[in-house]
Amino acid sequence: KVVAVIFGGESSEYEVSLKSASSVIENLDIEKYNVIKIGITREGRWFRYSGDLDKIKNNTWFLDNSCTKVMISPSKGDREIIEIKNGMLIPTKIDIVFPVLHGKNGEDGTIQGLFEISGIPYVGCNVATSSVCMDKDYAHKIVDYAGFDVPKSLAISRQTNETEIEAFVERVNYPIYVKPAQEGSSIGITKANNKHELFQGIDEALQFDNKVVLEENINGFEVGCAIIGDDDLIVGTVDEIETPSGFFDFKEKYTLEYSKIHLPARIDNELCEKIKATAKGIYKVLGCTGLSRVDLFVDEKNRIIFNEVNTLPGFTTGSRFPNMLLHSGIEYRYILDMLIELGIK
Ligand code: DAL
Ligand code: MG
Repeated sequence: KVVAVIFGGESSEYEVSLKSASSVIENLDIEKYNVIKIGITREGRWFRYSGDLDKIKNNTWFLDNSCTKVMISPSKGDREIIEIKNGMLIPTKIDIVFPVLHGKNGEDGTIQGLFEISGIPYVGCNVATSSVCMDKDYAHKIVDYAGFDVPKSLAISRQTNETEIEAFVERVNYPIYVKPAQEGSSIGITKANNKHELFQGIDEALQFDNKVVLEENINGFEVGCAIIGDDDLIVGTVDEIETPSGFFDFKEKYTLEYSKIHLPARIDNELCEKIKATAKGIYKVLGCTGLSRVDLFVDEKNRIIFNEVNTLPGFTTGSRFPNMLLHSGIEYRYILDMLIELGIK
């Protein structure tokens, strides 16, 4: 099978994608797959890259002279990428695209729309699910409507008046999380302990998105579920995030300086099964296919509360998603095989 792995992307999680995609490329079985590497620069320019993996890892791939301009044929049924070399158009057939992209333009349904129009099979969730899961406000509303517990939240924009924000603060008290509706890796998120920090946080979050979600703090801890499948779902071992500050921010996510991931989570079997069932229910309600990491909170009363769904979770060999599946006996290489099989189906 010819697998086109797409990496980078016009997203603030560009660098994270380079790491995830490097692991994916390294672990795709070369006996089974012919891997084509397509890089998207931070500016959104597409290139076919045929150089070493090292240059993806150190973000110099786009300087390599193997880079040629490339696009995906939008014509249904072509299933090809088209390179543009010296004014010539060179098509190559592909069987599936694996967009190893995080955040905007990669995980939010936009690129999935391009694959749909082209009729090219792809790994992961469809357009609508990707868009909804990328938007913390919409995801919360749907999951809430379906009867799961969600944190109290308020979606605001630049136009929202202060009294509405203050009414929300009265209802939930500080601390309050301030999140751009559509971001990943905790980028643009702050934890506000007072009014000054709240409005500062809103300004900060508005730099990333026109919609901002204010969210109550849940006293407890966060757990994750790695799920693979369309109808029959495989759920990996549940993990748990221990953060002394209570906020697993960007730096902590990628350095784990003060935080710790416990795998398996330090919970009893009964709670673990409840978490898995909740995660599967949410995955279904949101229409996830292929894969997703469902993040949940467990509060002091052992209530399971929705946090978010990542339709393309961190995918390095050290990331939570593959590790949770590995702990339950599914190796990284085999995850890739399953995702490709599900995508082509
Ligand atoms: N958004 C990052 C990549 C994650 O969910 O792991
Ligand atoms: Mg996320």
